[in-house]
Amino acid sequence: MTIRHSRGNYDIRFVSLDRMFDGCGPRDRILTDANVRQCLDGQWPQGIPTWVVPAGERSKSISEFERAVRWLANGGAGRDTRLIAVGGGVVGDLAGYVAAAFMRGIRLAQIPTSLLAQVDSSVGGKVGIDLPEGKNLVGAFHPPDEVRIPLDALRTLPENEFRAGMAEVWKYAFIADPSLVSLLEGSRLGPEDPRLESVVRRCIEIKAHVVERDEFETTGLRAILNFGHTLGHAVEQVSGYGVLHGEAVAVGMIWEARLGEQIGMTPPGTASEIAVHLASHGLSVESPYLNQVDELLAAMRKDKKAGADGLAFSLLEGIGRCKLVRGVDETEVRALLGAR
Ligand SMILES: NC(=O)c1ccc[n+]([C@@H]2O[C@H](COP(=O)([O-])OP(=O)(O)OC[C@H]3O[C@@H](n4cnc5c(N)ncnc54)[C@H](O)[C@@H]3O)[C@@H](O)[C@H]2O)c1
Ligand SMILES: [Zn+2]
Repeated sequence: MTIRHSRGNYDIRFVSLDRMFDGCGPRDRILTDANVRQCLDGQWPQGIPTWVVPAGERSKSISEFERAVRWLANGGAGRDTRLIAVGGGVVGDLAGYVAAAFMRGIRLAQIPTSLLAQVDSSVGGKVGIDLPEGKNLVGAFHPPDEVRIPLDALRTLPENEFRAGMAEVWKYAFIADPSLVSLLEGSRLGPEDPRLESVVRRCIEIKAHVVERDEFETTGLRAILNFGHTLGHAVEQVSGYGVLHGEAVAVGMIWEARLGEQIGMTPPGTASEIAVHLASHGLSVESPYLNQVDELLAAMRKDKKAGADGLAFSLLEGIGRCKLVRGVDETEVRALLGAR
């Protein structure tokens, strides 16, 4: 698959674990996290300097950014260096931002190893780090030169991380592709499933289609990728990031579908249908954090899509069709969550 963007294009290819580093050399640098480094130990290439950050969201920080760029500078990296991100979305976002900033931009290759990174974060060019004030507040658009997807890497991914990635897979089906719903329904997908490659490919195609048409998030189209995310991000934040992103998005999708039904945009019954699908993949559709309505509303007001006219949600017009809706009154959300 080839993705076009304003400065060129890049290829996305499926690779086996043992071919993951083909063509990489001593001028390259690798950035990864400790879990991934350990799980992929047998595949690690000799002779390519590697920077290992602690696993987890906390590594998307100014301090890890500083350590990584200084490591590049001290190790003789130059404008001809290519940085290779090997890991989940945390590594991809951090390495991407390092590549965007070092010497005003060096080449980046993404080798995503979590399901979420394979279907979402490695594609589209958004990179960045967090501040104590909020997630992803510092970042850039820095598309990779290439994306190599080792599906075999998912065999070592913890089960709860796989499940959380599946929430994003379902999201693509709900916003854009009823045939993906058909492909997924019936039995739960796992890392060994023969459907996996076509499922990941379809998700990437949908994301590519959207980001090619709204690369810099200016038309509102890219916002459809945010279905389930206005409320999902709020749940994540109110939980103190104790809930995985995908788990929060699953809850967000159900309740945003119910919100859509409540305001007459989403056909009745859609939320129940979504709930059945998510539950069949082990995703919970309830959360104790939904009781904290004031805290959730405070978080949703800070959402990038919100405006002076009210909250904003990407809502379904049916399975396979999604649209950004602005100006949603807070009383609608209170009514929705209060009636639980
Ligand atoms: N840039 C974007 O467009 C975009 C889109 C969506 C999400 N994101 C970002 O992605 C991040 C979440 O990504 P994530 O869910 O991949 O989290 P993550 O990078 O923290 O990975 C999840 C966990 O799985 C481990 N892991 C990854 N691959 C593994 C493997 N093959 N075997 C064993 N363990 C493995 C990691 O070490 C980590 O502990 C968030 O910071 C989010 O903001 C970015
Ligand atoms: Zn997401």
